[in-house]
Amino acid sequence: MRYGYFDEQNKEYVIERPDVPVSWTNYLGVKDLCTVISHNAGGYSFFKSTEHHRVTRFRQNGVPLDRPGHYVYLRDDETGEYWSVSWQPVGKDFTKAKYTCRHGLSYSKFQCDYKDIETEQLIFIPLDDDVELWDVRIRNKGNKPRKLSVFSYIEFSFHHVEIDNQNLQMSLYASGTNYKDGIIEYDFFYEPWTYHFFASSFNPDSYDCVRDTFIGNYRTETNPVAVERGVCGNSSELGGNHCGALHTKLSLKPGEETRLVFMLGVCSRDEKGYSIKKKYSDPKNVDAAFGELSNYWDRKPSVLRCKPPNKGLNTMINTWTLYQAETCVVWSRFASFVEVGGRVGLGYRDTSQDVMAVPHTNPGKVRERIRELLHGQVSKGYGLHLFDPDVFKPQEDRLPGVKLPTVVPTPSADSIIHGMEDVCSDDALWIVGSVCEYVMETGDLGFFHEVIPFADKGEASVYEHLKRSLDFTAEQTAKNGICLGLRADWNDCLNLGGGQSAMVSFMHYWALRYLIEAAEFLGYENDVQEYSRMAEAVRESVERELWDGEWYARGVTRAGIKIGVKANDEGKIFLESNSWAGLSGAASPERARKAMDAVHKYLASPYGVHLNWPTYTEPNDDIGYVTRVYRGIKENGSIFSHPNPWAVIAECKLGRGKLAMKLYDALLPYNQNDMIEIRQSEPYSYCQFVMGKDHTAYGRARHPWLTGSGGWSYTAATKYILGIRPSYEGLVVDPCVPSDWNGFEVDRQWRGASYHIVVSNPDHVEKGVKSTRVNGKPVDSLVPILPAGSENRVEVIMGK
Ligand code: GLC
Repeated sequence: MRYGYFDEQNKEYVIERPDVPVSWTNYLGVKDLCTVISHNAGGYSFFKSTEHHRVTRFRQNGVPLDRPGHYVYLRDDETGEYWSVSWQPVGKDFTKAKYTCRHGLSYSKFQCDYKDIETEQLIFIPLDDDVELWDVRIRNKGNKPRKLSVFSYIEFSFHHVEIDNQNLQMSLYASGTNYKDGIIEYDFFYEPWTYHFFASSFNPDSYDCVRDTFIGNYRTETNPVAVERGVCGNSSELGGNHCGALHTKLSLKPGEETRLVFMLGVCSRDEKGYSIKKKYSDPKNVDAAFGELSNYWDRKPSVLRCKPPNKGLNTMINTWTLYQAETCVVWSRFASFVEVGGRVGLGYRDTSQDVMAVPHTNPGKVRERIRELLHGQVSKGYGLHLFDPDVFKPQEDRLPGVKLPTVVPTPSADSIIHGMEDVCSDDALWIVGSVCEYVMETGDLGFFHEVIPFADKGEASVYEHLKRSLDFTAEQTAKNGICLGLRADWNDCLNLGGGQSAMVSFMHYWALRYLIEAAEFLGYENDVQEYSRMAEAVRESVERELWDGEWYARGVTRAGIKIGVKANDEGKIFLESNSWAGLSGAASPERARKAMDAVHKYLASPYGVHLNWPTYTEPNDDIGYVTRVYRGIKENGSIFSHPNPWAVIAECKLGRGKLAMKLYDALLPYNQNDMIEIRQSEPYSYCQFVMGKDHTAYGRARHPWLTGSGGWSYTAATKYILGIRPSYEGLVVDPCVPSDWNGFEVDRQWRGASYHIVVSNPDHVEKGVKSTRVNGKPVDSLVPILPAGSENRVEVIMGK
């Protein structure tokens, strides 16, 4: 069953049936102001931080779904009938009113066609103003003149989400509203930097700032009394619950269209409210701002645009997966309908991985994130598992310190430094890959020498930070040479403590290879020697200690029991260790191949690869929390999306293009567009997990958007299937594709030059390059770094 389709031309996902099983969301804003919005215009806005600076309120996990939202109501002033531009909140019979939601790149468009009135509400946040704009067009397509009323509605939130939800004696009496000159101001008398405002391009006929006056007692957003009556109550008050409701009456002749703009801004009326109202009351400025946003999103895919013969890969890589990967870098993990403000900051491992995917489309943000992460590294070498980079910023960059009667402790930089008991064994290893990928993409070699402080004491060059991370891991190793599990590794629920993690040993090898390559290029001969010895020792240990005959073990518990081996009754085989065996390059090709064969045999499914099999049914604290997770959910045998692309990369390294594509296709949300009765979640975003075969809801996807699967899938497809990856000295073109592909094309901008890459596959191989020509001249293997501004043609012929 399908609810919508991919509009390739407009790069939109179009939802035609609004009653999708769960909220299908989108992200507006690419800098500081963000709105997470559903296909029904439900959702919330925040400024920089979901926890500390909420703008609009959201009743998470509520009934009905997604309330409140950023709504426009229409009322026929002759009949009194009313509806909303998005299907909800009024929820007209959608067989009689036609509703469409178009989620685009950083905008959403709601369209409604009802009784000859066509309405459109385009919502977006301009690149350079902290304001959300609603560009509303209303057209009378009938042959009678019409008299209508239009109302906006948003519900303001107290800025601190925890207080908003839990301490109403503060939130209800320390915020208020007032109305002047057509602008509603959400007033924070005691905290002047937290003002919000709501304005429109017209002079309102009536308004409400008090939520309960607009909605009415014992009513909901479905039937606000003000809309029913046709006029607001002109309410405002100091204290209470507040909203932004502006009302205008209009008449439309047959065929006539009108355009209204609504603005939700961060700051006071005087500071920016008046100027923003003036600026965006002129539709030309709205068009210009939307044009700039469109250019922003046109530029990104133009850095890497591919034309593969696989339609899903094409649509997802050129648009949606890139968009998802970028969204994770900008908003990290804590702004969605699942995480609604309880946590903020960066997950060390999460953001380190996210940035690896997009150094080509967002080098500035990637560099900023890497700097923040390196500052969150302790001088011993480990990363702070979850931290807010703002605590390291100079005090004057942080919020001013008026003392609230309700004490919300201000974290000090010292207080966030955790000890060994909370160290995850994988956290700081990822950053080695992040830094090297960033430098290989940009050529910014100076970055290795930039000096960045540690979280606790001292400072060091970026390069030295990376060495600390590798040395720390080397120290945290058991006698047999396998890395300790510590609090957890990538799998938060495997708590092996003093036991050992196979995955981290493979990762250690992977990160060491990155550093050795950098050291070779930088001419640091001693490091090349030292870290090559370390890598060789890791390789020998994993081969000696972890091979189980058909696949690699996942680890060893504190009590010395191997997990992820045949001898276990539950958790016999895991995806992470077996994909990382091949991905890291540590395993022999023969074992890596066998390990992946076992992955296909025991873990693969039509919806992607399961994380482990069989699922755990008995709590066992020697293994960890995973044994207390329901079967088939999250870390206990779901199809956890994030590691799936690791398996794709492992297959590409083995040269098995058909199998790589099979795994890629299985997880690809695009391919599940017509089975939403099973998937439920949006088909344009990877979800954190899909319920596994041991769960009654096998195939149901949950937790969209903010997951490492976006970035890793992008990397797997572009760098390994299409095989185009930057290195220090040139561009590698080494595809691994199904043998029935005749070839493909990629346009790549790299270090200022354009490369039009044409790959052909006349012998129908899965991997191997017979010849590479650049501008007609043969090259050995690497495509050289060509002068900035040059346009180049690269012809690659695959073959044996
Ligand atoms: C969640 C966490 C991530 C972790 C993964 C596996 O996605 O955000 O950090 O690696 O679960 O446990």
